[in-house]
Amino acid sequence: MTSGPTQEAIDPVRYIANRSSGKQGHAIASALAKFGADTTLVTGPTQEPDPTGVNVIHVETAEQMLEACKTSLPADIAVCAAAVSDWRIRKKSKGKIKKKGDTLSLSLKKNPDILKTLAKKGNGRPRLVIGFAAETSDVISKASPKRIEKNCDWILGNDVSMGSNTFGGNQNRVHFINNDGTESWPEMSKKNVAYELVKRIADHFQSLAEKK
Ligand code: CTP
Repeated sequence: MTSGPTQEAIDPVRYIANRSSGKQGHAIASALAKFGADTTLVTGPTQEPDPTGVNVIHVETAEQMLEACKTSLPADIAVCAAAVSDWRIRKKSKGKIKKKGDTLSLSLKKNPDILKTLAKKGNGRPRLVIGFAAETSDVISKASPKRIEKNCDWILGNDVSMGSNTFGGNQNRVHFINNDGTESWPEMSKKNVAYELVKRIADHFQSLAEKK
């Protein structure tokens, strides 16, 4: 399970990050553990307490998050809820950048895509890979191709334009998308989203076991 933002240093005192609180990811990790899954949570810096019964790995950057995820494999399920910074500073400054001139240009380099890396076909791919799609408009039409592009099995599209309802808030409204189509879940607490998702994961593995 990944959760929270990542922080990418610009210099020793500044970083690039985002508004992710980690509440949704931590709630899912907690629900997975309550359902009996042996759970590892790889999290960026958040205010959330470590969930009970979960092995927690704290990281700062996207590169560290990817490494921690790789060392946590093999796994049956990967759930990526972290708001990974898409970019890091190409060459971070050893010393504090001084205020000179009226503008400052920062050169950025793309970070690895953790979900895409974990979901890549091949030996060692978790049997169920679940991502999130944070969108500010047209959530379903943007989340659906993201699921295909990142090769994940399920994706939860969520509208992050609602301010306190999503980033930092306790409520969430998600659209659950898989191969069969889209289900729009009513607005509910992040804890309930976690419960609904984990129940679905448990049912999925139950039906796979029954097919055997
Ligand atoms: N993700 C990831 N590593 C990244 C970027 C995203 O693992 N470097 C994962 C997120 O955890 C989420 C999914 O990919 O499960 C989609 O993230 P999102 O921020 O919605 O999309 P991006 O891939 O970053 O694309 P864009 O910013 O263009 O919408």
